[in-house]
Amino acid sequence: MSEEARLRERLAEHGASLFARGYSVGSAGNISVRLEDGFLMTPTNSCLGRLDPARISKLDRQYRHIGGDKPSKEVFMHRAFLDTRPEAGAVVHLHSTQATAIACLAAPGEDAPIPPLTPYFVMRVGRRLPVVKYYRPGDAAMEPAIAEAARDARAVLLANHGPVVSGRTLDDAVYAAEELEEAAKLALMLRGQPARLLTPAEIDDLLGTFG
Ligand code: 13P
Repeated sequence: MSEEARLRERLAEHGASLFARGYSVGSAGNISVRLEDGFLMTPTNSCLGRLDPARISKLDRQYRHIGGDKPSKEVFMHRAFLDTRPEAGAVVHLHSTQATAIACLAAPGEDAPIPPLTPYFVMRVGRRLPVVKYYRPGDAAMEPAIAEAARDARAVLLANHGPVVSGRTLDDAVYAAEELEEAAKLALMLRGQPARLLTPAEIDDLLGTFG
């Protein structure tokens, strides 16, 4: 099986798993994966729970549609990450409920709207989670704003919309999006309570050990 065929299968598996567990509902969310000769992207208006590997959109290196169904309208959102972070092999955008709740509470420009409560949130998402101001879904104007935020962050929250998360591989990006959702859930559960946060030294140790 070619690497592209393997990634098409894996993308459909992750989509089904995210959908089955409620990380995505309806036709919300989209996923992109970097290939040697371009990108795979989930088709617009597709349900992550029922992706057909053969119909996943293919884009060339200039993000032109060259195969499969019409790509997500959020190409600009994905391109902002893929072009700014050359190490990013995949990008996952969800409307997962608790991360989106934080995206409604946080002020645009905020840098760490979810506190460092757990090691896996820090290891997968990192130190920073910038909140990017609201844009209409599919608005090309979000690209420079996300690119600016992504320069120094693996993930962002789009105000009133949801998380956009990158990872070295497709698996990494999906796992980071899942950790972000869990961290958001904990942050909401513990709001106003005196939870112990990881210390700056503990965060340095995690990032130094696990990257
Ligand atoms: P697409 O169906 O075009 O991928 O858009 C879904 C979405 O999540 C918009 O933010």
